[in-house]
Amino acid sequence: TKRVAILISGSGSNMVALAGSMAGDHPARPVLVVSNVPGAGGLAKAQAMGIPTAVVDHKAFGKDRASFEAALAEALEAARPDIVCLAGFMRILSAEFMARWQGRMLNIHPSLLPKYPGLHTHARAIEAGEAEAGCSVHEVTAELDGGPILGQARVAILPGDTPESLAARILPWEHRLYPAVLRRYAAGDRTPVLLP
Ligand code: GAR
Repeated sequence: TKRVAILISGSGSNMVALAGSMAGDHPARPVLVVSNVPGAGGLAKAQAMGIPTAVVDHKAFGKDRASFEAALAEALEAARPDIVCLAGFMRILSAEFMARWQGRMLNIHPSLLPKYPGLHTHARAIEAGEAEAGCSVHEVTAELDGGPILGQARVAILPGDTPESLAARILPWEHRLYPAVLRRYAAGDRTPVLLP
């Protein structure tokens, strides 16, 4: 059985979808949820699901990113994860940190990568007049939002869409896509998952 750690910063809805999917004949189990935000809503949800949690508060380290990343690595390594899933984790990790976890770290990003890496993805897609948007799960490499794509879900952008309405249409697809990719990945299958 593969051991999965999940990194969050916020409400943790993708974490709940991932953790809830790892049951029965699933090849993986959740072993730890780590948040860099002490009050993140996802922490209570993880605890309610019986998953151990940890907080590594980046603010406690000031501008010292190396020390923050060392503490994050220590918290992660204590749980001996085979796979680390970034799920709404909103800190940029250094290229060195990401490279060390390469091959065992996944991320979900709310755009059809390689389009719109970074922040404000929905606003940028609407502003550009795109006909569709979506979400991507990719392997994490040293390049931000840049590793091999393991799955995508596409949705139409509708007239009158706002960043909020588009995000609300995409989020349920994130909750389908990420568990589907993780199940394949944990079984050693990197064939991309394409939804719907
Ligand atoms: C999700 O939409 C995820 O794709 C996005 O943050 C949200 C987290 O929601 N991630 C990023 O923007 C990464 N840069 P959640 O905490 O409810 O899963």
